[in-house]
Amino acid sequence: MRKVLYDRFGDEQVLEVREQPAPTISQNQLLIQVKAASINPLDWKIYHGEMKLLSGSSFPKGVGIDFAGIVSQVGSGVTRYRPGDAVFGFLEVFKGGALADYVVVTEEAIAHKPANISFDQAAALPVTGLAALQIVDQLAGVRQGHEVLINGATGGVGLFAIQLAKQRGARVTAVAGPAGLGQATQLGADSVIDYTKQRIGELPQRFDAIIDMSDKLSFTAAQQLLKPRATFVSMLPSPLGLARAFFHNLFSGQKHQILILKPSATGLRTLAALAEGGLQIPVEKVYDLANIRQAYQETSQGQVKGKAVVVLD
Ligand SMILES: NC(=O)c1ccc[n+]([C@@H]2O[C@H](COP(=O)([O-])OP(=O)(O)OC[C@H]3O[C@@H](n4cnc5c(N)ncnc54)[C@H](OP(=O)(O)O)[C@@H]3O)[C@@H](O)[C@H]2O)c1
Repeated sequence: MRKVLYDRFGDEQVLEVREQPAPTISQNQLLIQVKAASINPLDWKIYHGEMKLLSGSSFPKGVGIDFAGIVSQVGSGVTRYRPGDAVFGFLEVFKGGALADYVVVTEEAIAHKPANISFDQAAALPVTGLAALQIVDQLAGVRQGHEVLINGATGGVGLFAIQLAKQRGARVTAVAGPAGLGQATQLGADSVIDYTKQRIGELPQRFDAIIDMSDKLSFTAAQQLLKPRATFVSMLPSPLGLARAFFHNLFSGQKHQILILKPSATGLRTLAALAEGGLQIPVEKVYDLANIRQAYQETSQGQVKGKAVVVLD
């Protein structure tokens, strides 16, 4: 089978599609034939070597976290799935390896793919959809009547965060680049701000939650836009940042929460139900495995707005 692997940290030129023996499964595992896998910023942060503490430095390493495909084989201890089932799911974030013809998972890492979405859409959902769910419901606690600012609203996580915040009854202000403003409105944002034209620091209103997907808004800058009891959510967990936020949160009504993604099968089933209920899953660009370096070059340079997936057929 084909698998994307690399032997040293670097830019996308380190990525290679290599032939590997097909993996085997044990009693509680399933073999999935991957139809599509998605591209996430976490992928290049890992192969760039920016997350060595969490990824380790042993090689070769695989690339790709979330995928959709068909169950090919099941171990004798697997109860919920049969060969032929269409599923979507995730691999261990810092181990990766979804960009391959086959992956091995347990039942806890997958859910049935809703029939009304494509394999491309299902592959685009796990990491970003689970992140958006965790942010909106657990970290920001978005509720009816909340004023929510989403900075980076039309990227992978943002496009789901807009829809979830609207479903919870919030009023959403979406910050996006000029190409994303129409999409933000179409996904439900009540007002949109073009970050190339307006500085959000100049906004007159105050927010119950500010969610920053751009990695460019500091907590200090966000605090001026928060109500006295409100939450800022950022995306980059570091030991120092987490410690700072923990101590700050003990003494202030303005909380700083940092996302540490906790994927779960329950979360995937929630996403599947949301997709069946009409959650929009825009896939902006689809690449072939043969063009994997081009795929990561374009996405990591911000040339693709929203989700990109790689097909493995
Ligand atoms: N901590 C965790 O467990 C975890 C889990 C998942 C994701 N993440 C991180 O969360 C972040 C967002 O992920 P994603 O998949 O949504 O990434 P993405 O698709 O690259 O989205 C980033 C968004 O930021 C926007 N942006 C860029 N510059 C901006 C600016 N100056 N002001 C406002 N918005 C700006 C981009 O808009 P344009 O395209 O218009 O420039 C884009 O919509 C990434 O850093 C990712 O690694 C962390």
